[in-house]
Amino acid sequence: MDASDARYSLPAALADRPWRRHAANLASPPPTMLMQPELDLLHWLTSQYYQGQGLIIDAGCFLGGSTSALASGLATNPAAHGRKRLIHCYDLFSTSGKLWYDFLPQFNLGRDQSFEDRFRRNVAAHAERIEVHAGELLEQTWGQEPVEILFLDICKFPPLHDHATRLWFPRLIPGRSILIQQDYGWWDYHWGNIMMEVYRDRFAVLDDVPVASRVYLCTHAISESEAAERVYARLSEVDKLRHMDAAIASVGHSSYREHLWLNAAELAKTLGREDLIKRALVEIFSNPSPGPAGASARERFPQYFAGAGALAAAAPPAPQPPAATGRRLDRPAASRGSLSSRFARLWRKVRRAVGSR
Ligand SMILES: C[S@@+](CC[C@H](N)C(=O)[O-])C[C@H]1O[C@@H](n2cnc3c(N)ncnc32)[C@H](O)[C@@H]1O
Repeated sequence: MDASDARYSLPAALADRPWRRHAANLASPPPTMLMQPELDLLHWLTSQYYQGQGLIIDAGCFLGGSTSALASGLATNPAAHGRKRLIHCYDLFSTSGKLWYDFLPQFNLGRDQSFEDRFRRNVAAHAERIEVHAGELLEQTWGQEPVEILFLDICKFPPLHDHATRLWFPRLIPGRSILIQQDYGWWDYHWGNIMMEVYRDRFAVLDDVPVASRVYLCTHAISESEAAERVYARLSEVDKLRHMDAAIASVGHSSYREHLWLNAAELAKTLGREDLIKRALVEIFSNPSPGPAGASARERFPQYFAGAGALAAAAPPAPQPPAATGRRLDRPAASRGSLSSRFARLWRKVRRAVGSR
């Protein structure tokens, strides 16, 4: 079910997406990985929408950008007056190991560095509104408290998404709780794209907010047993591909679309499906100016864009009649491993275009 599903009518407070007209106007905001429209959304949610029916999760707070937007909004909301520690912040606050990214020096961070002190300083004005859960998310627990706003910007690997699902999805309040999947329209998130299709009948899509956040209203309750069972780790290959297809079909925004095709290529890689990697790359480059997803695709799959040897390796097998299924990631079982003639033509075009850069 989504926002366009006639069986579910959105509450008036959400239907015309008022966050798009809202300005957070934060005084000295901390450094953040979020874009202004995302900060405006978080601020709108806590200042205008929040009713105090549940707690607020800020999962992946980094240097405090999302925290500050949420807390500043809450400061102006009468439903939060006199109530402490409504916002629960989760982060490992460290740049070690897998948490190191080449762009972190932009935030004055080096390798193997803790940034918890910086986070605490950055959000010191909101100390009473937040509770900090420092450490590995996989080791965190949650009780029975309902969650009214769930901001997920931490599920950088599938087990983290599965853990967040088990902890918080059963605590969402149908008809009230908002889920923000901050990575939805970005790369390295095929598990998030897929899992939101698994839970499609429990949420309505409210908006896609740049740069990458997809916003949902929880429409139907999720039981604890369901959240324990319906996780990425338990999906079959066929289900992953089917849900990835549906996720791609659900995005209209072109940068989201290219990123989801890149995610489809990454998924195909994990499944050892070279045919589907090519299929996804073709889709990204069917846009003559594919943007950051195109650059990332060339970086991650260089073998498909390199010299003559790779061209031979990537050359499609004998052309087949075009499949009738349209722009699907996967093909019906009978035609798996072969490429349609349209695909072969497109692929050659992509190779020529990329080779000439
Ligand atoms: C994209 S950043 C969050 C950005 C933040 N919301 C902002 O406003 O700038 C993701 C955060 O997730 C944290 N993180 C990633 N994996 C984690 C894990 N396994 N446990 C705890 N924190 C983790 C990282 O330390 C990082 O600060």
